[in-house]
Amino acid sequence: RELLTGDALWALSVAVAVFLLLVDLMHRRQRWAARYPPGPLPLPGLGNLLQIDFQNMPSSFQKVLNVVPVLLRIPGLPGRVFPAQKAFMAMVDELLEEHRMTWDPAQPPRDLPDAFLVEVEKAKGNPESSFNDENLRVMVLDLFTAGMVTTSTTMAWAPLLMILHPDVQRHVQQEIDEVIGQVRQPEMGDQARMPFTMAVIHEVQRFGDIIPLGMPHMTSCDVEVQGFFIPKGTTLITNLSSVLKDETVWEKPLRFLDAQGHFVKREAFMPFSAGRRVCLGEPLARMELFLFFTCLLQRFSFSVPPGQARPSDRGVFGTIVTPSPYQLCAEPR
Ligand code: HEM
Ligand SMILES: *[C@@H]1O[C@H](CO)[C@@H](O)[C@H](O)[C@H]1NC(C)=O
Repeated sequence: RELLTGDALWALSVAVAVFLLLVDLMHRRQRWAARYPPGPLPLPGLGNLLQIDFQNMPSSFQKVLNVVPVLLRIPGLPGRVFPAQKAFMAMVDELLEEHRMTWDPAQPPRDLPDAFLVEVEKAKGNPESSFNDENLRVMVLDLFTAGMVTTSTTMAWAPLLMILHPDVQRHVQQEIDEVIGQVRQPEMGDQARMPFTMAVIHEVQRFGDIIPLGMPHMTSCDVEVQGFFIPKGTTLITNLSSVLKDETVWEKPLRFLDAQGHFVKREAFMPFSAGRRVCLGEPLARMELFLFFTCLLQRFSFSVPPGQARPSDRGVFGTIVTPSPYQLCAEPR
């Protein structure tokens, strides 16, 4: 028996998210082996870096910099005040340097940085273009930061809800055993035959409601919405929570299943927001959640540690809503 605390679980989630990225990277490596020099992958420190980053709440000096950002122009200062960010960027730079070295414009692009490099080449000599090396760095940074804590926080909610609802956990495991079995690993193709598991993952995201206020947006022109006039330049905050937790929409108990047990998509399911600026990582996130969740429940049963009270299902509010710290027992099945 192993005891995992909420914090350790979080670390585990980040580690697995990194692992999935590495698997993807290694897969690419295999396909393009001839073009990559041999050598270890530069990424395993990534999980630790993000971990440190989010545990250290901003120091008072960092808060000062937030208000007076011009101080960041002082040479050498940003790296001293934000060591984790600096180390993270160093890792991104290493990754991109490797890309540049092994990039072959004659071949189809291996990934997003390759496709971006093509555009940087085309845009050479055009200072107006946004395709430049600095934007490439920042784009990679954006994708990592937007994609990791979101997915791992959702994955911290999943086992909590499973130990609070053991009957649901058993039902998922039953479906896993029937469709996948205990021998092989889950694959994306299994999803279509696992409506109950799909429904549970959707419910985890709906209930977790990890980005209750979405991302702020600003109107680029005057608009009228349902009779309300909104002038250009207005900051708009979408209350995703009001949709995800709207009791008139989410009747119990079959939120994502019809009477025949088929999975049903719901319009009010919008943890990734909606519209043109909907989360661009949604398809990747869905894959990660499905594979990680089914893998875990295929191998383990989770429960409240003996003698402990049921943990709370209330979130801790911040930029992202995380579950309150909790402990669980993970027993190999
Ligand atoms: C469970 C996981 C995730 C959740 C709940 C989530 C949620 C969101 C939300 C609510 C937004 C704001 C959309 C808006 O502006 O209205 C967003 C934007 C974004 N997300 Fe995600 N996300 C997740 C995973 C990912 C992943 C894995 C990636 C990248 C690999 C990613 C990349 C992005 C990016 C780049 C944006 C900005 C898109 C834009 O402004 O056009 N996200 N996400
Ligand atoms: C978002 O909507 C919910 C439910 O309608 C409400 O309780 C909450 O106060 C709203 N949040 C904000 C910041 O207005």
